[in-house]
Amino acid sequence: MSIRVSEDGRQFFLETKTSSYRMKADELGTLRHLYYGEKSGGDDLPALFHAVPRGHDANPHETGMKDRDYGLESIPQEYSGFGGADYRTTALRARFEDGTRTVRLRFESYRIEAGKYAIPGLPAAYDDRGDAETLVITLRDAETGLKAELYYAVFEEADVITRAVKVTNETAGTVTLEKCASLALDFPARDYDLMTFFGRWAKERTPERVKLAHGIRAVQSLRGASSLQYNPSALLLAPETTETSGEGYGIAFVYSGSFLLEAEKDPAGDVRLQLGIHPDLFSWKLAPGECFYAPEALLTWSNAGVSGISHHFHDFINRSIVRGKWRDAERPVLLNNWEGTYFHFDGEKLVAMAKAAAEIGVNLFVLDDGWFGKRDDDRSGLGDWQPNEAKIGCSIRELGEKVRAAGTAFGIWFEPEAVSEDSDLFRAHPDWAIAVPGREPSLARYELLLDLGRKDVQDRLIEDISSVIRASGAVYLKWDFNRSISDRYSAALPADRQGEFDHRYMLGVYRVLETLREAFPELLIEGCSSGGGRFDAGMLYYTPQIWTSDDTDPIERLMIQYGTSMIYPVRTMGAHVSASPNHQTGRKTPLHTRAVVAMSGTFGFELDVTKAPEEEKAEMREELETFRALYGLLQFGDLYRLLPPTDENCTVWEQAAKDGSRALLSTVRHTAHAARVLSGFQVQGLKDEAMYRVRMVREKDVEKLDDTSKTLFDGRTVSGRALRTAGLYVPVTCFPEEYEAFQILIEEA
Ligand code: DGJ
Repeated sequence: MSIRVSEDGRQFFLETKTSSYRMKADELGTLRHLYYGEKSGGDDLPALFHAVPRGHDANPHETGMKDRDYGLESIPQEYSGFGGADYRTTALRARFEDGTRTVRLRFESYRIEAGKYAIPGLPAAYDDRGDAETLVITLRDAETGLKAELYYAVFEEADVITRAVKVTNETAGTVTLEKCASLALDFPARDYDLMTFFGRWAKERTPERVKLAHGIRAVQSLRGASSLQYNPSALLLAPETTETSGEGYGIAFVYSGSFLLEAEKDPAGDVRLQLGIHPDLFSWKLAPGECFYAPEALLTWSNAGVSGISHHFHDFINRSIVRGKWRDAERPVLLNNWEGTYFHFDGEKLVAMAKAAAEIGVNLFVLDDGWFGKRDDDRSGLGDWQPNEAKIGCSIRELGEKVRAAGTAFGIWFEPEAVSEDSDLFRAHPDWAIAVPGREPSLARYELLLDLGRKDVQDRLIEDISSVIRASGAVYLKWDFNRSISDRYSAALPADRQGEFDHRYMLGVYRVLETLREAFPELLIEGCSSGGGRFDAGMLYYTPQIWTSDDTDPIERLMIQYGTSMIYPVRTMGAHVSASPNHQTGRKTPLHTRAVVAMSGTFGFELDVTKAPEEEKAEMREELETFRALYGLLQFGDLYRLLPPTDENCTVWEQAAKDGSRALLSTVRHTAHAARVLSGFQVQGLKDEAMYRVRMVREKDVEKLDDTSKTLFDGRTVSGRALRTAGLYVPVTCFPEEYEAFQILIEEA
């Protein structure tokens, strides 16, 4: 049993495999947070997180004349209200009909539910192996009647706790919610580091670890999408925590819209962490009896370093967020025509590409942008999802058939949420595009967005997309989204509901995706947003993989995939081998390096394979065979980041089988130095007492090595203990090459 309650029904114990979480309702009904961390093993913890009066605290009236130490400002809480005397960041803010805004939440009751709760219309983790149990704690603002139910699902084996909130208007009048955080968590005064992820186009999710200082550190998106700029996830770490040791917490939002992530260190050093829909772009009107669901957030703790937190999230996302056939099934290796042709193709070219792709072993050809409406560049055509038969030289049905006859399955690109001003759809329904009446809206990549909050818009998209999938026999859909929301206004919402715009937009996107999933359960959907601009656990509920970045340069990808991997599994990261010189950076890299990096993602190709010389095609085929042979390790192994992309010489990472029987090391040299040094690292995840054979995946790589490296990487047997303690070093070659990459396989002998 992962949830226990004390006899008086006021103390709550949540237990995962390695962690404990504890809270209690005090005598005034405040739901206090007491502990979250290493499994405590008993109920009698000597040191629980408690309030230390700050001095001159404001006291609730009922205790003011008796206990001047009881102050909401210092009490660690599970979910804070507003307008009383807790001056820290608030979780819930509401405006009542009489204009008052005070919310004081007190414990009312609890219930335990078997399994995992679901959230209507929103993505949420699920449990299909009997791992989860749910605790619902009801809090109420007694003076108005506003009710907040806090949901905690405990996934014991997975070591993850999910949180969500349902607010119900049980007051006599209308309530307008102004803020409704999904996760709020208080931590005792200690030193903490906060790791968040920043980026921009072609530079997504760069990790940034800072010492948390007094005040508030926040990352956010006001873009209507989780964004290229910041990711809705963070790690709160002990200062001494490294990649493989030490304690830390991870949080991740199961939501894809505007968000606010705040870490407040108050003047006494206590820390309050919050994650939720961004309040600046949110208000929600509730008539009496109506309710609102704040989206879900994931929470985990580990004392196995940053990689321990990553492993919890990777396994959980692979197992309890990603759904359907493609959760477990081997995914197709695709070739996408975008960087191979951009908008300039005809049907013959596409079929030739599919044929050449089949020859190297690719089993899915994906037709990207430019196949529909009037679209030979990015200035027109979005919204007109009728295939351009003149351009492709046949119907979309025939094209699908020709691609299959060439030897691969067929997949297709859409940017459903966007519309070009120069499109039949815009001319017919100008009011469907997002714009403020009387103002010209901003264009981005020459496009506008459709008001996805409207049901008529959603239905039209479902119809348009479904008919293309049916006609073409597509088994894969790339769902792109290439601009942020601006100029918010919905013609379908009354004035006092315009604050609901962003969340209704997201609910609309989710409804379209869910309807398509139900209609086409075998369809593999890949998310995309100018690269990885909507890479979050919310999208992963509908799209098992997401295009990680428009930057396909393998050297730049090292940092992008490294940062993304802090939270998200290898299996979710779209990664392709593209042409050299690279189209984004102009850098020339060996094909093997491009392949090694793409293999720690979904692995695919994005170049004009028809132009590749035979020997290059043979090399591509070989890489693809390696990927298939190592599929289980690459896609489901525990990922260890052994040398970061900021290392002077090399990036090294490892994927280790969960039973410790084998591991794959990947090394990529950044630059070639004349004065070389050994880049050493310790191998993780093996069994100390077992013996392992260490060898290069490509036999031909052995020839490149100097004599000492040859003795080690050509099948030598080494103990797991030696690999963990003394470790290995990046193979040394006789002639250093820039950007050279190696794969080293370690297998139990
Ligand atoms: C942006 C995506 O990230 C690219 O992969 C490509 O699909 C283009 N859009 C097409 O317009």
